[in-house]
Amino acid sequence: MNIAIVTGASSGMGKEFVLQLSQYVKVDEIWAVARRENALEQLKNLVSVPVRPVPLDLCKEESFYAFAKLLEKEKPDVKLLVNAAGFGKFGSFENISLEDECRMVDLNAKALLAMTRVTLPYMQPGSHILQLDSLSAFQPVPYITTYGATKAFVLSYCRAMNRELKGRGIRMMAMNPGWVKTEFFSHAFQTNQSEVQYFDRLYEAKDVVATGLKDLYKTKKDMSIHGFPVKFQVFLVKLVPHRFVMDIWLSQQKKAKNNKGLA
Ligand SMILES: NC(=O)c1ccc[n+]([C@@H]2O[C@H](COP(=O)([O-])OP(=O)(O)OC[C@H]3O[C@@H](n4cnc5c(N)ncnc54)[C@H](OP(=O)(O)O)[C@@H]3O)[C@@H](O)[C@H]2O)c1
Repeated sequence: MNIAIVTGASSGMGKEFVLQLSQYVKVDEIWAVARRENALEQLKNLVSVPVRPVPLDLCKEESFYAFAKLLEKEKPDVKLLVNAAGFGKFGSFENISLEDECRMVDLNAKALLAMTRVTLPYMQPGSHILQLDSLSAFQPVPYITTYGATKAFVLSYCRAMNRELKGRGIRMMAMNPGWVKTEFFSHAFQTNQSEVQYFDRLYEAKDVVATGLKDLYKTKKDMSIHGFPVKFQVFLVKLVPHRFVMDIWLSQQKKAKNNKGLA
């Protein structure tokens, strides 16, 4: 049985991957992973490929072992793995609980690594892995500090693993979007007075995901970046010392509130 696995499939970009992936890969089932089982069940009505909801809390280590057992039982041929589960918290570290900081590391970094490791034995040459990363991977980001650090981990892990996997004929790519209109923002703000206030442009999840899938299947890139302004920013932060990049980011946050695109 050929399958695709998508974590974070209950909303946002993960859900978009479930909706769009059949344009690039033919599978018998899509395994949709997230905590909200109802939202995963609803995916069955939205795509022609059978969807198997796999309700798991990926902040819990036992979930990795439960998923490994499921793979062992079904022995699928995994054609595509998308790790899209993740969340961020905005604001001063003093306003973010230690529990939330640890959960960001657990979900964004540890779960992504663990889901990749348990799935890899079920992947053959020609299969693909997409890791949902972020523009914040390329620079330190005060007031999105821990979130950005988890995404820097993902970028480094993903690019190096892509090289390691070359000999096995498996391709791994990071996807590094700027701001995207999803439920992400409803989880990110701690208070109305967040230090993070300036969102220059917000992209649509369906467009970012379409670019990610095209780059994964039609190019040899190890990073996918949607939108010229985001690409240009990535280019600039490689040239400018990061202390200046952080100065610019902090001065942007002091500008008049610009979050009109947020839901
Ligand atoms: N939106 C942006 O501006 C933006 C920009 C760059 C990168 N990203 C990254 O894109 C990825 C997807 O985010 P999104 O924007 O699509 O946000 P989203 O709509 O909030 O989606 C997050 C997904 O992660 C799942 N999730 C959260 N906690 C989980 C847990 N403990 N166990 C299992 N699944 C969990 C959620 O499902 P349940 O709640 O049902 O568990 C949901 O399906 C994240 O890694 C995020 O960091 C987002």
